[in-house]
Amino acid sequence: MIKVENLAKTYETKVRKGFFKSNKVQLEAVKNICMEIEKGKIIGLLGINGAGKTTTIKMLSTLLLPTSGRITVDGIDAIKNPMTVKKRINMVAGGERMIYWRLTGRENLWYYGQIYGIDDKILSKRIDELLNLVGITDKQDTPVENYSKGMKQRLQIARGLINNPDYIFMDEPTLGLDALIAKELRNHVKKIACEDGKGILLTSHYMAEIEELCDYVYILNKGEIIEKGTPKNLAMLGLKNKTVYLKVEKNSVAYEGIYNACRLTDKSVVVEHDNKEEQFTITSSLDLKLTLSKFCMNNKVPIIKLYEEEPKLEDAIIRFAKEA
Ligand SMILES: Nc1ncnc2c1ncn2[C@@H]1O[C@H](COP(=O)(O)OP(=O)(O)O)[C@@H](O)[C@H]1O
Ligand SMILES: [Mg+2]
Repeated sequence: MIKVENLAKTYETKVRKGFFKSNKVQLEAVKNICMEIEKGKIIGLLGINGAGKTTTIKMLSTLLLPTSGRITVDGIDAIKNPMTVKKRINMVAGGERMIYWRLTGRENLWYYGQIYGIDDKILSKRIDELLNLVGITDKQDTPVENYSKGMKQRLQIARGLINNPDYIFMDEPTLGLDALIAKELRNHVKKIACEDGKGILLTSHYMAEIEELCDYVYILNKGEIIEKGTPKNLAMLGLKNKTVYLKVEKNSVAYEGIYNACRLTDKSVVVEHDNKEEQFTITSSLDLKLTLSKFCMNNKVPIIKLYEEEPKLEDAIIRFAKEA
């Protein structure tokens, strides 16, 4: 497991004042964050631009020294022993960095494998496996400059797995990809966690992606973790009101009947009525499903449909960001 304890990063930047003067400014990009990444799990780090996601990933990847705090990878201190930890981790960044365009896909992987000092025989076999995993075996001898965007991104993933890491950090891996390629990439990410048992930390500002992939989510805002939980729990937490839809048989009940029944449980309930469809939309902070079904039963109102709208993580994020 990776354990992050009270991790913080303060950048010192200069702000120009006139031609010759500049003031030093401290910027707390990450403030005392704590998180855990287990093997076989996909953990999401969600936040708007500037929230501190990349800074966090860079510190975890040992590319950036934290101002304070502790990171341990399976018990090994990542700040004291970066070289040992580097063997067990790797990162994948979005976009087209860290790949050599003139080299073929295979040559790229070979180059990165050499950096890790992997034995030639083992490396060759691993490259075969990785090319197969990400589905670019038939393009392995083509220079990367002739790859499509999706193929480059798949090569990125293969590169991130070249040292057979236990943990992999992905910084906005689907940034700039079209919907179809992004979907395919998400499937690869799932496979790496579920089948190969790797621990994955994934950052994204794209909520649907986090919702689909992650077992657990941390929401970062201005460098601080403001919420954490499973995507489902977070979505519920963020929703102040539940929306219940009730569809009944035509002319079986009047609007007032439904409204008054709900009012007994929740004084601030909002009930809308669609006459044509004979559908009621009931918005309340309480769960009124039981109230509604009891009312319909007692008054012999035949129910066609009664269901609650699934809360969306997106609504929660917007609320958290506004409140923070
Ligand atoms: N090298 C740097 N020097 C100074 N400030 C930085 C540096 N890198 C990032 N920042 C600032 O730190 C904050 C967090 O940035 P970042 O971690 O890149 O956020 P995210 O990846 O969530 O968009 C931002 O305000 C950004 O401007
Ligand atoms: Mg970033």
